[in-house]
Amino acid sequence: MGRYIALVPAAGSGSRFGAPSPKQYLQLNGKPLMWHTLATLAAVAAIDEVAVVISPQDEWFDGFDWKLPKLAVYRVGGASRAESVCHGLEALAPADDDWVLVHDAARCCLSVAAVERLIATLDNHPVGGLLALPVPDTVKRADSQGQVGATVPRGGLWLAQTPQMFRAGLLSRALRGVAAADITDESSAVERLGSKPLLVEGDAQNFKVTYPRDLALARAILTARKGE
Ligand code: CTP
Ligand code: MG
Repeated sequence: MGRYIALVPAAGSGSRFGAPSPKQYLQLNGKPLMWHTLATLAAVAAIDEVAVVISPQDEWFDGFDWKLPKLAVYRVGGASRAESVCHGLEALAPADDDWVLVHDAARCCLSVAAVERLIATLDNHPVGGLLALPVPDTVKRADSQGQVGATVPRGGLWLAQTPQMFRAGLLSRALRGVAAADITDESSAVERLGSKPLLVEGDAQNFKVTYPRDLALARAILTARKGE
């Protein structure tokens, strides 16, 4: 039976957030933002290793005592998220039948329950899959003037989240075959091989901290969870 490895790309600079340090290191409820991400993954019983990929130039990671079980750090981040994931996979060198769960460091409100649901649902699945959310709102396509060009039927539309979970062999093959600039998630690389990843319903709390306004929501979610 394959192992379960969480691979967390955390080598971004957080340019849209615009803070002095990358957003994954911002203080959130007394800890760096991505401590919450890594702690959730480490708390999933099935996960054997939590591999975080940081930039070789990272100035922040060593300044904090992470005190988390299962944590391993790889200083091999690249110029894009896809490159960081690729380099991380190469450094990890997992067995082909190991499961790899790629998860954005910036999705710090991930819940243990959602990861467990993903793992349980994909048990024995031939391809793998991802957490995603059915689009709840009415969808508009803009024209070149920013006016409504069309209303797009939302049936069958999902918003992709992470973790995205694939066998290591399939994932490496998929990522090898595409230019990093052409893909924004692992699923799209796997889809290009003709495989069909499974959509597993996630939840809206698993959003990606991108802009400063997102921090208050993340803080509220984590604080409420603590009090449960
Ligand atoms: N990431 C990475 N290596 C990169 C770029 C991004 O590991 N070269 C990681 C980020 O650290 C983040 C995840 O990929 O955890 C999702 O990326 P995103 O939210 O876009 O983060 P940033 O690229 O840091 O932010 P921005 O695009 O605003 O600069
Ligand atoms: Mg980015």
